[in-house]
Amino acid sequence: MNVIRLIISSRLIFLITLFCLISNGFVWAESRQSGNQFLTSELLNLSKDSSINPITLWIDQGAQIWQKDCQGCHQDLNSIRQSVVDFPRWKKNQLVNLEDQIVQCFAKKQITGLSLESADVLAVSTFLSDSAKGLKVQVQSPIDPAEKTAWQEALNHGAHIYTQRQGRVNLSCTQCHDLNIGKNLRSDVISPGYITGFPIYRQSWQAMGSMDRRLRACYSGVQAAIPPSGHRDLRSLELFLKNRSEGMIWEGPSIRR
Ligand code: HEC
Ligand code: HEC
Repeated sequence: MNVIRLIISSRLIFLITLFCLISNGFVWAESRQSGNQFLTSELLNLSKDSSINPITLWIDQGAQIWQKDCQGCHQDLNSIRQSVVDFPRWKKNQLVNLEDQIVQCFAKKQITGLSLESADVLAVSTFLSDSAKGLKVQVQSPIDPAEKTAWQEALNHGAHIYTQRQGRVNLSCTQCHDLNIGKNLRSDVISPGYITGFPIYRQSWQAMGSMDRRLRACYSGVQAAIPPSGHRDLRSLELFLKNRSEGMIWEGPSIRR
């Protein structure tokens, strides 16, 4: 009797172990966690309730601008949606991100003097980002061989900055975003810094802000010289981070503390 029990229980243990291994395997298949997975429950609730989420207003504002200033040339929102997940792109020998493209497109309508953080630029960016929800992040390398080489160099440059210590605090991006994930820093919880949901509405900014602004805030956090808005270092970092986020689901504009 005891022997039978023993056989049954060891089989059970074997089965449980097998189940754990398999289910672990499934979790492992997408173990990358987006910034949204590090939100407090309060912020998470805010982000899920469109009646109180401040981002809703930005999306509505962006939709109006889209109709007024963009739709004339871009009837097909579908092709534009796809572009949200593949920026930054290689264009005329440099990387261009979504907000850069929007500023350039406003200029086609003689609307000039806008910056990456102008409310109208961020509103349309928020609207487009929202329309791309559910797509997979997928940066595109150029087809032309010379351009492809230059693009690869930009990607390497981004990887280099990511691992280089800097600032008075003498920390690299990787020390926070790879080695201290989940730890508290002031009132923030450090995420792996994947790019799956920009622009962001940061409560401390009381406004939407671009990827560019978020990255500059991290430079400021380590008391390093902050690259000016649009600097190639910021675009290279964005390419590196988005490349690293490849295949993750785009979550649209996001709330942050
Ligand atoms: C001292 C730690 C620290 C360093 C060094 C640091 N960051 Fe951050 N970073 C943070 C914190 C804290 C946040 C806000 C919480 C979060 O999302 O991780 C953040 C947010 C981010 C985000 C936004 C993630 C999201 O989903 O909202 C990105 C992207 C990012 N950092 C990239 C970088 C890059 C690139 C560097 C290097 C130039 C860098 N960080 C250096 C602490 C750091
Ligand atoms: C006068 C025509 C015109 C207007 C108006 C215009 N665009 Fe564009 N847009 C273009 C062209 C042409 C391209 C192809 C790339 C280029 O030449 O910059 C483009 C490319 C884009 C792209 C990249 C998508 C892709 O598949 O290449 C985005 C995103 C975009 N525009 C957004 C906007 C937004 C947002 C507005 C309104 C603020 C706008 N555009 C207004 C002509 C226009």
